[in-house]
Amino acid sequence: MARVASVFVCQQCGASSPKWSGRCGQCGEWNSLVETVVSTRAKGKGRRAKSSVKPVRLSEVEEIAEKRIPTDIGEFDRVLGGGIVPGSVVLLAGEPGIGKSTLLTQLVMQLSQASTKHEARNSKQYRNSNVQNSKKKVSKFEIRNSKLAQKVLYVCGEESPAQIKMRIDRLASSVKRSASRANLLFLPEVDVDVVVSTVEKEKPGLVIIDSIQTMFTSDLTSSAGSVSQTSECTRRLIDVAKRNALAIFLVGHVTKEGAIAGPKVLEHMVDTVLELTGDRLHEFRLLRATKNRFGATDEVGIFVMEDDGMQEVANPSDRFLADRQKSTPGSCVVCVLEGTRPMLVEIQALVIPSSLSVPRRVASGVDQRRVQLLVAVLMRRCGLRLAHSDVYVNVAGGLTIREPASDFGIALAIASSAKNQALPSQSAVIGEIGLLGEVRKVGRLKQRLSEAEAQGFRRLITAEQFSSLRAAIRAVLRK
Ligand code: TYD
Ligand code: MG
Repeated sequence: MARVASVFVCQQCGASSPKWSGRCGQCGEWNSLVETVVSTRAKGKGRRAKSSVKPVRLSEVEEIAEKRIPTDIGEFDRVLGGGIVPGSVVLLAGEPGIGKSTLLTQLVMQLSQASTKHEARNSKQYRNSNVQNSKKKVSKFEIRNSKLAQKVLYVCGEESPAQIKMRIDRLASSVKRSASRANLLFLPEVDVDVVVSTVEKEKPGLVIIDSIQTMFTSDLTSSAGSVSQTSECTRRLIDVAKRNALAIFLVGHVTKEGAIAGPKVLEHMVDTVLELTGDRLHEFRLLRATKNRFGATDEVGIFVMEDDGMQEVANPSDRFLADRQKSTPGSCVVCVLEGTRPMLVEIQALVIPSSLSVPRRVASGVDQRRVQLLVAVLMRRCGLRLAHSDVYVNVAGGLTIREPASDFGIALAIASSAKNQALPSQSAVIGEIGLLGEVRKVGRLKQRLSEAEAQGFRRLITAEQFSSLRAAIRAVLRK
């Protein structure tokens, strides 16, 4: 039997000491000791002979792509790469209150609802395959497939089961059919070892840990939420997931600084890292995969937070442009790509005389330095007088744009406001701006153009028509 003990290991030089101290005795680094579990086994006993491990042939490796379980939430599946992979561990990170618990509650409701469908299909498959070939072994993953639909274990370290039940009742109206809740199990527990043994006993197909920061193991003396506790708990959960081919979702809170609190260290351990972002004051929530061992990382799922939970947004352009006031100076529609998906959003700019000696350049939703750069280009290359004006730039709808393809639109919005003249109606702008005032071509132009055309934008202002920003301003803002 393994005996568990803990030591404090310096993250800088790797020296270990039995007691914590503020400074590493070996290398002198401050605050670098982290508590780590070490297991010591009795010599010989329980030790596996090294020669006994047999490598697996490629032909014997089970295909997991076909074993994905669709979540029935389209936007979620898109980000995961087609569904949940049995045996995978997914970290769902986001700021507190952004909607992580809500999204996962909806997920388990959808899954428990889909269970009847899956069970029926799977049992039919088993019967057929057994009749055809009674010797054929039913794969481990196939069994898990039906199990995933059968049982979901929700480990709630933050809320009581009663609170989650309240949320489920609130969300029930958003789920198309009434969910069968018999296979939804709750475990109000924060001891990871109790969770692991419960999982081994109950054998659910999907486990939700809400949140990983509340989990702890009594093998370590540090408090729950510390780096050592979170990484050790995650290690134990990953181990149980791989051994039993079950999927685990870990909820991780991100601190204000943007690092996944402590669990930034978890990113390399888990299979997939999903980030739920958005402005809490706005309704939009974006789900991105920043790491995905089973799919692409450039897909993004778009939701809105409503009274009855997170609703999928199938057509984001429609929603982002919903409140737009047409033909207003300072407004410009740009086409950006979120992942592989083109979206039209409105950029708003306001240029007013400044009362300060150093005028303001305020940006929300776009990088402030980018705005400063574009203002400089507008002044130097296009002759716009902005030296004594405050410039405000905003992305309508609370979206954050990082793509340089929005440069041209931002610059035209600022010029439009400065000249107090609206851009031509039904125009969309696509292009990157260089320091010389040139308009550059952007990638996937075809996709962007077809999205703009689909939304009824007939006048497309791109690098194809204008080689410089100056020429574009002259042509579209004539005054
Ligand atoms: P929650 O999922 O609890 O956040 P997290 O787990 O990421 O900390 O969501 C919290 C917010 O979402 C809370 O402010 C209430 C709001 N909310 C809705 O607007 N609609 C809903 O249907 C639900 C369940 C929550
Ligand atoms: Mg929560």
